[in-house]
Amino acid sequence: MRRRAVIQMVLIGLVAGAITFAFAYFIPWLPDAASTQANDVDRVFWFVAIICAVVFAMVAGVAIYEGWKFRAAPDDMDDGSPIHGHTGLEIVWTAIPTILVIAMSVFSAVVLAEITDTPAGSKRIEVTAQQFAWSFKYSDHDRTTGELVLEVNKPVELLIESKDVIHSFWVPEFRMKQDAVPGITTTLTITPTKVGTYDLICTELCGLGHSVMRSQARVLSSADYAKWVQSKPAGAAGGTDGKSVFASAGCASCHTLKAAGSTAEVGPDLDKVLAGKDEDFIRQSILDPNAEIAKGYQPNVMPSTFSDSLSKEQLDNLVTFLRDSAGTAR
Ligand code: CUA
Repeated sequence: MRRRAVIQMVLIGLVAGAITFAFAYFIPWLPDAASTQANDVDRVFWFVAIICAVVFAMVAGVAIYEGWKFRAAPDDMDDGSPIHGHTGLEIVWTAIPTILVIAMSVFSAVVLAEITDTPAGSKRIEVTAQQFAWSFKYSDHDRTTGELVLEVNKPVELLIESKDVIHSFWVPEFRMKQDAVPGITTTLTITPTKVGTYDLICTELCGLGHSVMRSQARVLSSADYAKWVQSKPAGAAGGTDGKSVFASAGCASCHTLKAAGSTAEVGPDLDKVLAGKDEDFIRQSILDPNAEIAKGYQPNVMPSTFSDSLSKEQLDNLVTFLRDSAGTAR
């Protein structure tokens, strides 16, 4: 009788464990893995997740089985028979979790060392976060962009800084995440493995525009990357025309402008506040946002860094674009 109960219990635990494992493993919970680091991180994730799922299912399965099998009859008022501990069982249920937890720690530590190791010859890109935009500076070809452009299979080291509050760099497909902290430079090493375009997200609550502090990471083939390096330094859309600058400088993250197809509401609606304004006003609003703040938008949160980050040509084209398009498109 006792033996049968034990066998039943173990079988139920195993079946429950297998079902939980199947749920965990065969549903695609995670986005594509698009970097070598992502593959390492996923290996740790699954190692830990599968151990946890099976242990949880076995414990829960056995607990439910016992509750049902050994339940008291409605008229049973007995205290129940006294029992002693079971030394063998206690040793087993202490030893197995100890081994599993140590295995998880060692595996995690090895992978952490691997993914934080920067291969010699990695290209360095300076990443600057500020409310509410990202910029990427490629010192070796003197270029600053509003999106991260990478060459497939080439490791890069990101040197991450913040100009105001704490932000956090995250591309889910790369799995790597790092805070941007004012006053210090944090680093992140990424080796992209798949050509494609991925969302780049700020994942630290950083103010009103946190949810729109997004950009993208474009991973190009070696040939396309070489072409991109040769192309005229510009912005996201590959031009210095005003509309491209509007996109690459991050204006669209915060402002509505029909002509640029943006609908963000962090800052004033440019179709309203810039309609009919002259170039001087528009230029001042970009370079010195504190000079005149639109009603309802105090205190100002717009960065006053565009005099550094935009070239003269980009700024001129952006001003002209805003003058000609604000309030005109429908
Ligand atoms: Cu920057 Cu959230």
